[in-house]
Amino acid sequence: MSKKLDQQIFHEISAVADRLQMETYVIGGYVRDLYLKRPSKDIDIVTIGSGIELANQVAKSLKPRPRVSVFKNFGTAMLKYKDMEIEFVGARKESYNRSSRKPIVEDGTLEDDQNRRDFTINALALSLNQANFGALLDPFDGVADLERETIKTPLDPDITFSDDPLRILRAIRFATQLNFEIEATTLQSIAKNKDRIKIVSAERIIDELNKIMMAPKPSKGWKLLEESGLLQIIFPELQEMKGVERIQGVGHKDNFYHTLEVLDRIVPNTDNLWLRWSALLHDIAKPATKKFIDGQGWTFHAHNFVGVKMIPKIFRRMKLPLNEKMKYVQKMVQLHMRPIVLSEDVVSDSAVRRLLFEAGDDIDDLMTLCEADITSKNAEKVKRYMKNFKVVREKLQEIEEKDAVRNFEPPVDGELIMKAFDLTPCREVGMIKDAIKDAILDGEIHNNYEEAFAFMMNKAKELGLSQKN
Ligand code: CTP
Repeated sequence: MSKKLDQQIFHEISAVADRLQMETYVIGGYVRDLYLKRPSKDIDIVTIGSGIELANQVAKSLKPRPRVSVFKNFGTAMLKYKDMEIEFVGARKESYNRSSRKPIVEDGTLEDDQNRRDFTINALALSLNQANFGALLDPFDGVADLERETIKTPLDPDITFSDDPLRILRAIRFATQLNFEIEATTLQSIAKNKDRIKIVSAERIIDELNKIMMAPKPSKGWKLLEESGLLQIIFPELQEMKGVERIQGVGHKDNFYHTLEVLDRIVPNTDNLWLRWSALLHDIAKPATKKFIDGQGWTFHAHNFVGVKMIPKIFRRMKLPLNEKMKYVQKMVQLHMRPIVLSEDVVSDSAVRRLLFEAGDDIDDLMTLCEADITSKNAEKVKRYMKNFKVVREKLQEIEEKDAVRNFEPPVDGELIMKAFDLTPCREVGMIKDAIKDAILDGEIHNNYEEAFAFMMNKAKELGLSQKN
């Protein structure tokens, strides 16, 4: 069976390859995705000979002529054509050194090149030469594995994984993205070779984890990471969450599986990677704060605040961004219980105003996280929570329309206070400022200049300050 290569670019490459008499194939991910009907814009071309020469000649034949980026050290060349990125490489034979991911490379045949690839489904090649255009070369039965939905290495998995340990993670990532199963021997080898992941850079690891996070059911990947022993190495804080402790016959929920449920539940409602990370991290400090208290049972006091403190260390180690993305995740983790508490109580205007003030524009994301966090098996309970959340959402909208506190800037600021009472920055200025903010959030005064100014005057009087003349 072969697949139709109907993009014009393949005919262009074919004509040039024939003219140069170079055996040429499209290989790897693009072919796999063609069979899976997944759209793909990255095309890998392998030729028996110089990939750089082929790329230069192909570029010459295209209009407009694309620029070719040559990576001499790797013997590869890349060009962009329309919305595609096309990479050219000479077929190679590789061998690896155990202490590094950098291979020793020699020229090779197509078969050598297919042998060195990670999975059978990624080793498919389609010929581009006119004589057998579109013919499939599939020495490891990759198409059958696509049909069986199986991830399997072409060679002995111990060889494939120790050649390049990043593949251990790639196996789990592909299984998660495609919802495939990892073949038994391959899976055993992942567990056996798990420690080799230590020579892989944090940047490469996080790329794979982010792809797992963006998959339709990320829990599949995290469970595979846990079962194979990789989680303990790359994300010990998450591993810590697994398990249930019992005291006086009382257990708590398994926070690892609960977290994964929350993550899967948020996926249909958001493509925001950082909201998905917030779901994964919202209870990250539960193990650190866990305490059994007589009469109360298991408590996780202030686990949201402790979680906020843990995040920079995790982000730094994992090479996640230490910028506003991290701050956003911290905010979500800090506030993740607030709407639930609100929905349990009578929903007061001032509590809603405070939540709006603290969450700002991220309030909708916070509500999405909270709704995903309701994983109870008790249908009645879930129904009640969802109903209460609806009330909270309505109230949020009503208050925002009325008071506009979402991006609240106090109508009387520190500058004005200092000017009015001829002060330099001091404790009193801060006290007045906070009092104005609280008065607005508590609904004592409206969010406007006149009322805030009058409030300031009263407050200043209480503090014994006199106005500048
Ligand atoms: N490959 C490999 N080992 C790796 C990385 C890549 O054998 N560690 C091979 C595979 O044949 C793969 C091809 O190189 O299909 C291209 O790799 P890449 O672009 O990273 O992945 P894709 O398979 O195209 O998938 P995706 O774009 O989803 O990452």
